[in-house]
Amino acid sequence: MKGLILSGGAGTRLRPITHTSAKQLVPIANKPILFYGIEAMVAAGITEIGIIISPQTGEDIQEAVGDGSAFGAEVTYIPQHDPLGLAHCVLIARDFLGDEEFVMYLGDNMLEQDLVGFVAQFHSRRDAGGRQTAAQILLAKVDDPRSFGVAELAPDGSVVRLVEKPDDPPSDLALVGVYLFDHTIHTAVEAIEPSERGELEITDAIQWLVDAGHEVAHEVLQGWWLDTGKKDPLLECNRLVLDSIERSIHGEVDDSSRVEGRVVIAAGAKIVNSTVRGPAVIGENTTITNSYVGPYSSVADNCEVTSAELDQSVILAGSRIANVARLTDSLIGSHVVVDRVGHVPAGLRLMLGDHSIVELE
Ligand code: TTP
Repeated sequence: MKGLILSGGAGTRLRPITHTSAKQLVPIANKPILFYGIEAMVAAGITEIGIIISPQTGEDIQEAVGDGSAFGAEVTYIPQHDPLGLAHCVLIARDFLGDEEFVMYLGDNMLEQDLVGFVAQFHSRRDAGGRQTAAQILLAKVDDPRSFGVAELAPDGSVVRLVEKPDDPPSDLALVGVYLFDHTIHTAVEAIEPSERGELEITDAIQWLVDAGHEVAHEVLQGWWLDTGKKDPLLECNRLVLDSIERSIHGEVDDSSRVEGRVVIAAGAKIVNSTVRGPAVIGENTTITNSYVGPYSSVADNCEVTSAELDQSVILAGSRIANVARLTDSLIGSHVVVDRVGHVPAGLRLMLGDHSIVELE
């Protein structure tokens, strides 16, 4: 079985963070989202992995993942010139995939559940005989299915209909970004037409399989799942992942500092006259001085936090937070400066990129 990870796309929902960088490389607990997907595949025995990349962010992804050997995988990059849809990704990955079964995984999704059971279930269904299972989708119960792809199931559990963002949802089971396919999907993605938004939709390709008489099976997700393409789900995901970290201190903590609970302090980091209360992670060569870093914070590499208080926040690499009374529920991009300069007259002096959001008390 091969793996196909979708890491192209436009990333409009996470702007401005994704104006210049890939949303799949935004870190959760200081590790890029994409790495969790690769690790889940390798753990399920899938080591031949194709990654769909866009012209805007493909180079960064290639630089971060390399040839895959760091993960025990062999990675092939598949460029997609425009984000023409999830089924378009399957179309352009044809040579890489050949006729093998594969797992398709959205590069900005995070699941608590691993892929081992999901893949084993597909194999046992296919080995069982009877109508051949051409696809297996992962579904999750959601409160408001109207903003998702939604599945309608037959009493035997097979999928009979998929609808994209329905006004009147046939169930509360939404499609999670993990799919298993056999070679039949290639016929489906060639047969379908682009949707109204101009994309080749994977829901249409799966519906084509159902209509052509192929079995489409499903599993219901265990544990949490998040589409990290927006700020609040991303911070929520950061909280969930930090909840499972173990304490490990590699950097320096001076005598006047306190590091409480499950905290990771990477090599080269320095904690000076500060309190870090876990769960929290502090990246390499980051300095925390005269500050408080509270629970559910991830501060990436090469940051500087000085005379500041923060919690429930994700700070990307190379940023400086200084003289701020309390930063909370925030997502700060890389190489950002947030500082209080103390000049009079008092006032906010801002230099913000396009699509920035500043929420003031
Ligand atoms: P989406 O989040 O559905 O789309 P997007 O990346 O264009 O995001 P936004 O709505 O913020 O503009 O994509 C899910 C994943 O699939 C994501 O990792 C990007 C990837 N993708 C591709 O690789 N190619 C595509 O053509 C599309 C539509 C998405």
